[in-house]
Amino acid sequence: MATERKSIHGQWSSRMMFIMAATGSAVGLGNIWKFPYIAGENGGGTFVLIYLACIALIGVPIMMAEIMLGRRGKQSPINTMKTLAKEEGRNQNWVALGWMGVVAGFLILSYYSVIAGWAMAYVFRTASGVFTGATADGVNSIFSDLVSSPESLLAWHTIFMVMTMVVVSRGVKHGLEQAVRYLMPCLLVLLLLVVAYAMTTGYFMQGVNFLFTPGDITGEGVLIAMGHAFFTLSLGMGAIMVYGSYLPKDTSIAQASVFIALADTAVALLAGLAIFPIVFANGLEPGQGPGLIFKTLPIAFGHMEAGTLVGTAFFVLLVFAAWTSAISLIEPAVAWLVENKGMKRVHASVWIGGATWLMGLGTVFSFNLWADHTWSIPFLFKDYDFFETLDYLTANIMLPLGGLFIAIFAAWLMRESSSRDELATYNIVYKVWRFLVKFVTPVAVIIVFLKAINAI
Ligand code: TRP
Repeated sequence: MATERKSIHGQWSSRMMFIMAATGSAVGLGNIWKFPYIAGENGGGTFVLIYLACIALIGVPIMMAEIMLGRRGKQSPINTMKTLAKEEGRNQNWVALGWMGVVAGFLILSYYSVIAGWAMAYVFRTASGVFTGATADGVNSIFSDLVSSPESLLAWHTIFMVMTMVVVSRGVKHGLEQAVRYLMPCLLVLLLLVVAYAMTTGYFMQGVNFLFTPGDITGEGVLIAMGHAFFTLSLGMGAIMVYGSYLPKDTSIAQASVFIALADTAVALLAGLAIFPIVFANGLEPGQGPGLIFKTLPIAFGHMEAGTLVGTAFFVLLVFAAWTSAISLIEPAVAWLVENKGMKRVHASVWIGGATWLMGLGTVFSFNLWADHTWSIPFLFKDYDFFETLDYLTANIMLPLGGLFIAIFAAWLMRESSSRDELATYNIVYKVWRFLVKFVTPVAVIIVFLKAINAI
């Protein structure tokens, strides 16, 4: 029986630990680095509203479904899907969902780690005081110098991957929860300080309008907004599922999911409110791409009171946020190696981490040596480099597809009695959840896919 299964990897020591770890997974570079730059590239307003709608109508329900499946299966996503498919009398090919998640996590971490490396480099840049009084041009050239050096990017990427492997080897339950508990609230406070600075630029309302006034959006923009809802909540690849598998029975899945989504969204919106006023005040381009936060926030740190200290602390906390996210990206693969190959956690972490490190070289070089190598896939994208291709394939295709299959399994194939028993929530909450997962998620994902390739 599902209720008697135990995870061989242990359990969270408390329900709070689970919420902390899952929030740590959700809040990361996606909120502070990615959200502002993709909102900037896709015109702001409408993009942000679609992203918010996707969080509420797709993100929260899928998060509940993932936690529910994980807690019922109590194993790595691959084995959880295998066990649950069997228990529910379904086709064994559902393990493929677990595998797709492992591949997606590997690909995402390979570039995530490189960007986390930028944040680490910025800890030291900021601490050295180079940004004091800096101009937009000065900040810009500091960023270009960093990314055009494969050696620097490689060194930071290596350090970040080692940090990730160390924590994953010890088991996700030891070590980083405390970081989430104390450091995430600090990150929030520092973000508020930058927002306060942004208010003094005289361009605050322009930032607000950019973020919230509806305008034009392309079919691809809609896809990116939806993909980001999955990315930012760590959904669609089994990260939250594997965290759910360590969850004791008495935690309310619905409550936890709503809390995580609210915290995550708050951080992203604050990041937007911090960055766009600085963009407009300095005549910068909102759609300039992945360097956006690194070319705007240092201007704020360079001009605010105690900016060197605030800025250094900010980037330290950003690295922590990235760290607590990165571990969840390889945990499904590591848990699987431990379960099926009888490997020790340390060995499993080194294998997966090593492979991810190697894959990350592609992203390191795509900002310098391979910057001119781009390609196009008809109907999908045009002139993307290595990093952009990985990001597109994972965030916009693999995660929503994973979410679609999770929805189909949880709402159409699993017996109602199973999901009702596992979610153990009020009847009305259950009914709303089921409706959203059964109809809204699949229809929305399919429509957005079709719109992105201009089929409708
Ligand atoms: N959610 C994290 C962020 O916003 C990144 C992340 C961690 C992630 N685990 C994931 C993204 C799983 C997709 C799937 O930075």
